[in-house]
Amino acid sequence: MDLVVVSNRVSRGNPNEPMTGGLAAALLPVVEQSGAIWVGSPDQADSGGLKESSVEKLGRGKLVTLDLPAEHFSRYYKGFANSALWPTLHSRPDLIDISDLDYFSYREINAIVADGLLQFRNHTTFWVHDYHFLPLGAELRKLEIERKVDIKKTVGFFLHTPWPKPATIRCLPYHVELIEAMLAYELIGFQTDEYRQNFIDYVGPDFGSMIENSVVISRCGRRTRCGVFPIGVDADKFAQYSEQAVSHPFVSSLRNSLNGGKLAIGVDRIDYSKGLDNRVKAFDHLWAEQPRSISLLQIATPSRSDIKAYRDLQSFVADLVRDVNLRHGAKDWTPIRYHNEGFSQSVLAGLYRTAKVGVVTPLCDGMNLVAKEYVAAQDPNNPGVLVLSKFAGAAKELDGALLVDPYDIEEMSHVISRAISMSPYERSSRWNRMIERLRGYTIQQWFSDFVVELENIQAEKTAGK
Ligand code: G6P
Repeated sequence: MDLVVVSNRVSRGNPNEPMTGGLAAALLPVVEQSGAIWVGSPDQADSGGLKESSVEKLGRGKLVTLDLPAEHFSRYYKGFANSALWPTLHSRPDLIDISDLDYFSYREINAIVADGLLQFRNHTTFWVHDYHFLPLGAELRKLEIERKVDIKKTVGFFLHTPWPKPATIRCLPYHVELIEAMLAYELIGFQTDEYRQNFIDYVGPDFGSMIENSVVISRCGRRTRCGVFPIGVDADKFAQYSEQAVSHPFVSSLRNSLNGGKLAIGVDRIDYSKGLDNRVKAFDHLWAEQPRSISLLQIATPSRSDIKAYRDLQSFVADLVRDVNLRHGAKDWTPIRYHNEGFSQSVLAGLYRTAKVGVVTPLCDGMNLVAKEYVAAQDPNNPGVLVLSKFAGAAKELDGALLVDPYDIEEMSHVISRAISMSPYERSSRWNRMIERLRGYTIQQWFSDFVVELENIQAEKTAGK
């Protein structure tokens, strides 16, 4: 396959290893199956330290990590990407925290990665992922012109996060030059139509571009197609994992420890966009009204711990959990089983299947693959209920879920209670609607739809249209 995929975070392909975030987990199987080259940064220790660059086989594909200078990496990753872009994209401009040096390093790393990509100059299609690399397409074009290499390449970009309203984007320092740079991509994919529309609203006439059928025509006449490609999961693989995982020691000891009680599950990175504190408060409210009606297994994987907002949240949520457990717990019952560690997909699938309620209640989320994985892992003869935030991209597709407003704690607690007592008939009919959608639009389909669109653009260019 003639495709080069680029993302900051990569995965080495061991299904028994914990996965960090949806992006790497999603890209892994499609790279392995398609034979694409996947380029990213070397492993990042929590300190931001980098291991050496390398080339490895990944199924039919290949994983290439680039040597990135440590002095810029930390300001690029912790600084601009995760302390300026991430809060902006998740509609939390109040949390933006950057210096000009962070932005400079972000641009430097993008320029260095573009330079590293020139080793693949014989490839015709490049697919860049996520907010770490908004200006990478523009850097590639610059290098191509400076070094007079083939400029017929087609470069596309997919954003895994939300794209907020123009007023929020305008809170981001350097937003004009960044978004001008994004228009060097010939295809930009979003998770939902709402995010695409927010982008188009920003880059419209006020920005000096024209819009024709979701194609942005920039001042210099460059065309960028904006499409919607909701990311999926490999539903069959999750179903298979979940059947097998029943015998995994962690899963079976959890099952035994429930003593017939019901279990809800939440699986999140500890991130302020995930609404963890409101979720814990909703269960607190539920237990005040219906003691011991269900217990919660909350897997909360530490994330980006070098950033103060994340560290503060980690201790805040841990204190909240401790307090709720003290008030509602007893010698023979722990309301919240709180795990600060990552689990492999194969174990997660077994945990999802054990839980009768899946709670996915982010305040703002591009898609949220946990929602889809939870559905895919259910027992078809006795499926659980998904309680889903209306502010997750997945809510646009999973119409069998019970939708909630994650800011309304009381409502969330009532909806969880409704999920606990839902009839087997209603559970099945809701689950069937969702699994049908997941089987019909898998991660493989998502990958192939985007690549076909890129190849069409490439073919049009080659034909000189
Ligand atoms: C989100 C982002 C990904 C990121 C993941 C984990 O899903 O969209 O780009 O890889 O979070 O975050 P981390 O900072 O650990 O890579």
